[in-house]
Amino acid sequence: MTKTVHYLKDYQAPAYEVCQTDLHFDIFDGHTLVRARLVVNPKRAGEPLVLDGSAQLLSLKIDGETVGFELDPANEKLTVRQVPSESFVVEVETRLLPSENKSLMGLYESGGNLFTQCEPEGFRKITYYTDRPDVMSKFTTTITADKKRYPVLLSNGNKTGGGNLSDGRHWVKWADPFAKPSYLFALVAGGFAVTKDSFTTRSGRKVAVEFYTAEADKPKVPFAIESLKHAMKWDETRFSLEYDLDMFMVVAVGDFNMGAMENKGLNIFNTKYVLADSRTATDADFEGIESVIGHEYFHNWTGNRVTCRDWFQLSLKEGLTVFRDQEFSGDRAGREVRRIENVRLLRQHQFPEDAGPTAHPVRPASYEEMNNFYTMTVYEKGAEVVRMYHTLLGEEGFQKGMKLYFQRHDGQAVTCDDFRAAMADANETNLDRFALWYSQAGTPVLDVSGRLKDNGDYVLTVRQSIPATPDMAEKQPMMMPLKVALLDAESGVQTAFGYQGGHVYEAVLVLEEAEQEFVLAGVGRSVVPSLLRGFSAPVHLNYPYRNEELALLLSHDTDAFARWEAAQTLYRRAVAANEYALAQGLPLPGHGGLLAAVGYVLRADVNPAFKTLLLQVPSEAECWADRNEIDPLRVHQAREALLDLIARTYADEIAGLLLNAQNQEEQGGGEVYEYDPDRAGWRALRNAMRALALRAEPETIDFIALEYDKMAKNMTHEWGMLSAANHHESDKRNGLLAKFAAKFADDALVMDKYFTLVGSSRRSDTLQQVRTALNHPKFSLENPNKARSLLGSFSRNVPHFHAENGSGYAFIAEKVLEIDRFNPQVAARLVQAFNICNKLEPKRRALMTAELQRIAAQEGLSKDVGEIAGKILA
Ligand code: TRP
Ligand code: ZN
Repeated sequence: MTKTVHYLKDYQAPAYEVCQTDLHFDIFDGHTLVRARLVVNPKRAGEPLVLDGSAQLLSLKIDGETVGFELDPANEKLTVRQVPSESFVVEVETRLLPSENKSLMGLYESGGNLFTQCEPEGFRKITYYTDRPDVMSKFTTTITADKKRYPVLLSNGNKTGGGNLSDGRHWVKWADPFAKPSYLFALVAGGFAVTKDSFTTRSGRKVAVEFYTAEADKPKVPFAIESLKHAMKWDETRFSLEYDLDMFMVVAVGDFNMGAMENKGLNIFNTKYVLADSRTATDADFEGIESVIGHEYFHNWTGNRVTCRDWFQLSLKEGLTVFRDQEFSGDRAGREVRRIENVRLLRQHQFPEDAGPTAHPVRPASYEEMNNFYTMTVYEKGAEVVRMYHTLLGEEGFQKGMKLYFQRHDGQAVTCDDFRAAMADANETNLDRFALWYSQAGTPVLDVSGRLKDNGDYVLTVRQSIPATPDMAEKQPMMMPLKVALLDAESGVQTAFGYQGGHVYEAVLVLEEAEQEFVLAGVGRSVVPSLLRGFSAPVHLNYPYRNEELALLLSHDTDAFARWEAAQTLYRRAVAANEYALAQGLPLPGHGGLLAAVGYVLRADVNPAFKTLLLQVPSEAECWADRNEIDPLRVHQAREALLDLIARTYADEIAGLLLNAQNQEEQGGGEVYEYDPDRAGWRALRNAMRALALRAEPETIDFIALEYDKMAKNMTHEWGMLSAANHHESDKRNGLLAKFAAKFADDALVMDKYFTLVGSSRRSDTLQQVRTALNHPKFSLENPNKARSLLGSFSRNVPHFHAENGSGYAFIAEKVLEIDRFNPQVAARLVQAFNICNKLEPKRRALMTAELQRIAAQEGLSKDVGEIAGKILA
């Protein structure tokens, strides 16, 4: 198989534009016929017309005449050499088999209904087209289908007509007044229940809101609708952005490759991000719904009205829209806790990506398969890059930049450089140095030291370096904001200092050079620096803190992130010390300092959600970040030993907090267990304490079993009890899980939770239980939610995935190959569990390499999996 790599540097504006696209879908039982009529304008007449497509082609006409063309199926291209030099009409007929399409890209069937997914390159599975985001066209969509089987027929924009046909069929026509790229096209057909509402925009337009789901799921729709209305309102107040169509539709589908999709006026959502009630969804699920509903809605401006010139610019819309959804969630509730959760996500998943074989810049320079670039780097690091503009320019300056961005680019397909230019020009500042964030991969490292000079000034010396990544060896220093404060070393009180002519308690230092000194003037006393406050840049920061200094930051810092980070550093040091002792066969250290800090946190008067985060020991992946020759099991054991020590040392305090959390939650609303952020905090703390209590005394599983029968009317509690009991080796745990699975056998989203429990258990028989679950009547490898629940969780299950005999690696490799035959996108996600290969100790590295080689050698392997496996093996 020859591989084709696409390069950013090869970008060329389109030779042909499509100014009007009229689509006609005739849906029949086994197949769907598509007629596309395109009005094409030459931009560089004389060049061949090249269309993207892989659907079964029935006919092709230009200006009503059949024409000669060449097909290149390997590259999914159709070329017509001779075309008119002025505006002409292309008519294409294709035939689709949606029920055979298990890739869930293009037109596919799920639960008897039809759905599309076109981003990034799915439209070419529907018809032949210039399937690239910089070709923007107005669309109409006419759909005909059997009225009984497909009563609901939806597409983008406004409904402009409809009626009955002979033979029990009917038709509907949609027109989208906004020009858009093909990736934003959507069609939905089938039987749905609709839940209706409306939103009146601030200029007084009434927008119809319609949510389409299964009839039985209607009671689970209200929270998502409320979230949407909050999002619409928020975008008006914070960003002055108003919705632009008369109708906003959301359709929920059980088979979906990702979370949701922002198709113009017709968002399609994974059911996971629409359906919720407190009996079946956890508080975290509710928060996920609010943020994904917000995310897709916000794309209407950042993505749809202004879109990407090419797919290398994906972060233009995704990084910006993630930043916007993070701000939305933060403004809704718990800003500081949300910020820390976002940092954890970045560290747990994006930092390893940035340090591994698939590392790429926020704006990648090349790709084989675009689907592989919907990554933590493009989304989450991209959002951090946008957040840095915000930190550098302030809210007002940032909003000025956004305003100019829309003034300049509404209706256009643009680049990350255009966004940066709008931010710089609106603020009359130069951000050229900042551009490197888009082209350099790898997590920067800041090495910081501080000293008090004789004259009382405090000097911070900051050195920055960016590690080499497979795509680039030498890197240049980047512009970034480093937010700092100083705490009095004795009292922990925040100390004022002179900086840039002001007398301040906090400053944003702007780094630009490989090494810089910053003078914080007139300090005159011994201080502890509070660095990278609010996680002001996505970097690793090293400062030689003593443990007592970290304890001071933990107890006194006014910045929530900095407090949390101090605790994280203490935990990481303790895990590393345990690991060393385990490796040397020495007794484990006593960790007096760390235990004192934990004792402080257990007693501290902080909100329960924050306390829960402060008590969270970093994951194994965070503990082994940036190391080589990793023995995953030893890191796991070191971490477990620390958790055991904490649980045993503070058993009484933990029991006390458990009881207090229960009382507090019930005060907030007794037996009513609805989601609300305050009670969610108490439930989070209660679940964390439950897990620690059971860890200290495994025999108390009986209490959990009793509690389960009493308490299982709220999914957050139910999940807390089950995930605490999940690692227990007794049959009682099996009994609990079986009860759970029987109770929710008919609820697909809750069954995903069941499969997640099976895949993430530390029990010794987990691989066997996972294999058994593959044959569970409610399991299906073809459903991405199910595959992710059972196999994704297993691939993150450190002791089992990294089992010394290689059984975990072999199992995941086998499933990657199986899934790749029908859904390469999902298979390519799963194979990324092998990203860590070259950082493992030699024995495991050899075992994993052998599995990767087996995958890479597979005949007919998708380019999705091929690209990832190839990069790991390179
Ligand atoms: N644009 C979507 C989002 O971030 C992402 C997405 C949804 C997607 N479905 C997809 C990307 C399928 C690739 C393939 O909101
Ligand atoms: Zn998005």
